[in-house]
Amino acid sequence: MSGHSTKEQAAAPTMTPAWVVNPVGPLRGDVAVRGSKNAVTKHLVAALLGLTPSTISNCPDIGDVDITANMLRALGCEVELRNGVATVDSSSLSNSRVPVRFSGMNRIPILMVGPLLHRVGEAFVPLVGGDDIGSRPIDFHVEALTRMGAEITLTEEGMEAKATRLRGAHIELPYPSVGATETVLLTACLAEGRTVLDNAATEPEVIELALFLQRMGARIELRPDRRIMIEGVSELSGAAHHLKGDRIEAFSFLVAGLITGGEVRVHGCSQERLVTAISTLSGMGARFEITDSSVSAWAETLTPAAVETDTHPGFMTDWQSPMVALLTQCDGLSVMYETVYENRFTYVPALKQMGAQIELYNNPLGSIQSRFVGSATPCSAIVRGGQPLHGTNVVVPDIRGGFAYVLAAAAADGATTITGTHHLDRGYNQPIENFASLGLDIRRIEVPIDGDAA
Ligand code: EPU
Repeated sequence: MSGHSTKEQAAAPTMTPAWVVNPVGPLRGDVAVRGSKNAVTKHLVAALLGLTPSTISNCPDIGDVDITANMLRALGCEVELRNGVATVDSSSLSNSRVPVRFSGMNRIPILMVGPLLHRVGEAFVPLVGGDDIGSRPIDFHVEALTRMGAEITLTEEGMEAKATRLRGAHIELPYPSVGATETVLLTACLAEGRTVLDNAATEPEVIELALFLQRMGARIELRPDRRIMIEGVSELSGAAHHLKGDRIEAFSFLVAGLITGGEVRVHGCSQERLVTAISTLSGMGARFEITDSSVSAWAETLTPAAVETDTHPGFMTDWQSPMVALLTQCDGLSVMYETVYENRFTYVPALKQMGAQIELYNNPLGSIQSRFVGSATPCSAIVRGGQPLHGTNVVVPDIRGGFAYVLAAAAADGATTITGTHHLDRGYNQPIENFASLGLDIRRIEVPIDGDAA
């Protein structure tokens, strides 16, 4: 018995978690990144396809791993997470329905449809969630699954799917979507016959998943020009993989050094995953020391830049908000043009509140043809850099925007209180510890929900 009355139990919480950041000047030191958020969860899903257990190591300690592990447990799988190693045994799979309580938590349930159809012939997954950075439709997934023989019904709660037999198909994606490519990979490797996927995403995390599936016994060929060919096999076994480093986190910590006039050395993410980030920052005057195991960056002065986000190997959309935070501190006019998502500047008002001069435009200010012409949301930002930033109270709109606030707060005058930090805990491995190891004064606190910072 807890001793609390029903009335007390029902009372709405009055406090919310927050991070408070006190700038200390240049951030210096070493940070080690773990496996990437956008690969680990897909590997956990792939383990659903194996007849024997899979082991995934170098897992980040993030909310998304716990959410995905709990979804697999709800399906009857045995999942153990210990010291960054996940072991998934799906031989005890007993349920084809991901419970609706997982609705809106992340983007992963839709990736489970293909594996569940292979294992049990039917699936229910709740509607996808993830960051609010655009409409994030699932039409490419639905079309691909349908072409492979699934009967899909969309309901208010999610997606119902059935298939007596899945077969290979020729699928051409209208845009090289990461998630839709992963849906095809996860579905085609046990489908009957050959799947040819054109206009596939080639992000490193997608290739990492394809290689893991190959380890499990899948027959996958990576062809030039965004073509992937998959020859279905009758069964897959479990496999082991040590995840490669998170390139979004790595870039963000390099920026933490640059934006404060310091120097951060990032371990655990290879140069290969950071090529475009390094070349973009080099073009602005950043200097690098690159070894087989680390990348560090520093600069005497940084010049403004015109950057456009793109699919791999372009400048990734998830690097956009840390980059804009950095551009606010580079003297002169910079341009950022977002081409992947139609609503990825929701963090800008808070940076402006901190003193940044940024204007948003609906016109494409770059060379890539925008898919969002006519959209009501802005796709371009012009940043007048060099204005001082001041600490204030800000609310995180999405995971990457939230990290940009921490970067801006580290370069500001005075303290910043950041609420909505659950977004950050979902995707960054031990962020407070990592920032503190660079010298930043950053702490977790609780603030009143209706207070200034809520
Ligand atoms: N799209 C459609 N229809 C679909 C699928 C995608 O129109 O059925 C559109 C999207 O709306 C978007 C574009 O295609 O405009 C690209 O979306 P994509 O499918 O590539 O994104 P995703 O798989 O949902 C992953 C990452 C994102 C990352 C993007 C692009 C995960 C869990 N998420 O999302 O990461 O930005 O690829 O690289 O892997 C993040 O980590 O903060 C994050 C948002």
